[in-house]
Amino acid sequence: MNYNLNQLQAADAGKKTTGAAFRKLLPLLGRERKNLLTALGANLVSSGLNLTGPILVGYTIDHYVTRKQFHGVLVFSGILVCLYLGSLVTSYFQTQLMGGVGQRMLFHLRNEVFGKLQELPVAFFNQNKAGDLISRINNDTDKLNQFFSQSLMQFIGSIFIMAGAGVFLLSINIRLGAATLVPALLLLVFTRALSPWVKTRNAASLRTTGGLSAEIQESLNNFKAIVAFNRRDYFRKRFDGANQDNYQAAVGAGLVNNIFLPVFSLSSNLGQLVVLSLGIYLISVGQFSVGLLISFLAYANSFYSPIRQLAALWTNFQVAMAGWDRISYILNLSSDLVPAENGSHPDAGGALIFSGVHFSYPDGKEVLHGINFKLGKGKTYALVGPTGGGKTTTACLIARLYDPTTGWVLLDGKDIRSYPDTRRTARIGFILQDPFLFTGTIRENILYSNEQYQGYSNEALESVIREAGLQALLQRFDRGLDTPVTSGGEGISLGQKQLIAFMRAVLRRPELLILDEATANIDTMTEQLLQEILEQLPPQTTRVVIAHRLNTIENADEIFFVNAGNIIQAGSFDHAMELLMRQKMES
Ligand SMILES: Nc1ncnc2c1ncn2[C@@H]1O[C@H](COP(=O)(O)OP(=O)(O)OP(=O)(O)O)[C@@H](O)[C@H]1O
Ligand SMILES: [Mg+2]
Repeated sequence: MNYNLNQLQAADAGKKTTGAAFRKLLPLLGRERKNLLTALGANLVSSGLNLTGPILVGYTIDHYVTRKQFHGVLVFSGILVCLYLGSLVTSYFQTQLMGGVGQRMLFHLRNEVFGKLQELPVAFFNQNKAGDLISRINNDTDKLNQFFSQSLMQFIGSIFIMAGAGVFLLSINIRLGAATLVPALLLLVFTRALSPWVKTRNAASLRTTGGLSAEIQESLNNFKAIVAFNRRDYFRKRFDGANQDNYQAAVGAGLVNNIFLPVFSLSSNLGQLVVLSLGIYLISVGQFSVGLLISFLAYANSFYSPIRQLAALWTNFQVAMAGWDRISYILNLSSDLVPAENGSHPDAGGALIFSGVHFSYPDGKEVLHGINFKLGKGKTYALVGPTGGGKTTTACLIARLYDPTTGWVLLDGKDIRSYPDTRRTARIGFILQDPFLFTGTIRENILYSNEQYQGYSNEALESVIREAGLQALLQRFDRGLDTPVTSGGEGISLGQKQLIAFMRAVLRRPELLILDEATANIDTMTEQLLQEILEQLPPQTTRVVIAHRLNTIENADEIFFVNAGNIIQAGSFDHAMELLMRQKMES
């Protein structure tokens, strides 16, 4: 399955409409329904109050100002002040409410995206750069927040005021009203025609922001190599390239986004011009009054000034939709590691069986070609072979980090895909070739994914560690369990990391323990100690050891040669050595 988000998005480019993207957003708004409706109500009241203003002004002019009845003027001025104050209060209330809605949406959306990332398989992370994912979670979600907290209600309010003003314009004088609205109609056509272009430009801008973030992440991760090889110029050049792309895409997006403002202003001015010239003509032929013209001008203004605001809001909407599109690609993915309904298979028995396993990485050629083997309970197996031969890949399939392209992996006689994740991971311990530590303490790192000892005091945990024969390893750290692990293990040597990963795996007491070069960075004395600990594991524990050093695999019951994606069963250590010697002699 293809998990490359940028490729998936490129394949769909232009197929999805903004409307469809917005509809997909609606379920997300469900939990804010009450607040949204209240804000909408407040918005309508505020816009309604604003809309009543001009007609009252017109009425006051025609009935009181022209007749010099100042008492009436005063009363209506008071009413107008109350109206505008009411509008101010409701508008403030609505803004407050929507700020909260935006922040909560951002919070839930980030949680949802992060939760999704936890469900996705390893293949997803192989195909996407961390920096781009971070940009999606941080930057793109915030674009949605900005739209919801700052723009949505203004958007609805503007449309409401425009609709109201349109109704007033048409009802005061239908011909003059219709003429006033013509420029707006042209504007609508213009906006619709330009929308797809605006959308692609904004999507490109966000994509390049993701690319930039990916570039920064990669150079930060590899800064040691950059400094050691004095290749700062290389990464600077790459960063410059990504920054340049981002700059150009952002300028492009800014250009198309800003094209709306002058065009919207032009149509607004045209509208007012129509009102003024036609209105004066109508007054001159006695079909219109001055007060009505002032009301009319105010309504034309109410109709056209939100249009200018709409230009900015429309841009925010397009940016938010482009961000949402990038987020929704993550949310739409699901793991292809689906559970199998029926786990039974004729090849039952043993701790683990590979039956006709072929495997290719999502974007590569086949790496394992029809592997068959059977691991018995309580035995020790060694996987040896040249670099890139497929040892780690085989181990990953044993731990179900990937599923075979075809063939079966059977754990304890049942399809490994039929085990719920918690049961499978409880049975299998995997010490990765590149151990990963979390920032925290050694205690937290050892107890990672180990519910059993979470509540134990340090003393109780130390006695468990002693029983497992691991105390000599813990003593290597000055402050024992409380030794801090900083920046994901930066201050700890690779060998020490492997010791922590070893303790972590052994304390979980798995039935099947895989060690992928788990002792490659450890001195031979300590390695001997680890061997002894491994021998003390419960007798039914099956061990799979991947190693290059021969002394590590001397005690293995069975040795497998893994070479170019094929596995040859080579028997005991002595037998394997004999085979190897014979091969060397022949070649
Ligand atoms: N994430 C990946 N995506 C694509 N191809 C991969 C990936 N990981 C490994 N490969 C390819 O699969 C093949 C087997 O790699 P694997 O890591 O299993 O080798 P290995 O036997 O563990 O080597 P080493 O002794 O160096 O650890 C290699 O050709 C490698 O290029
Ligand atoms: Mg490997």
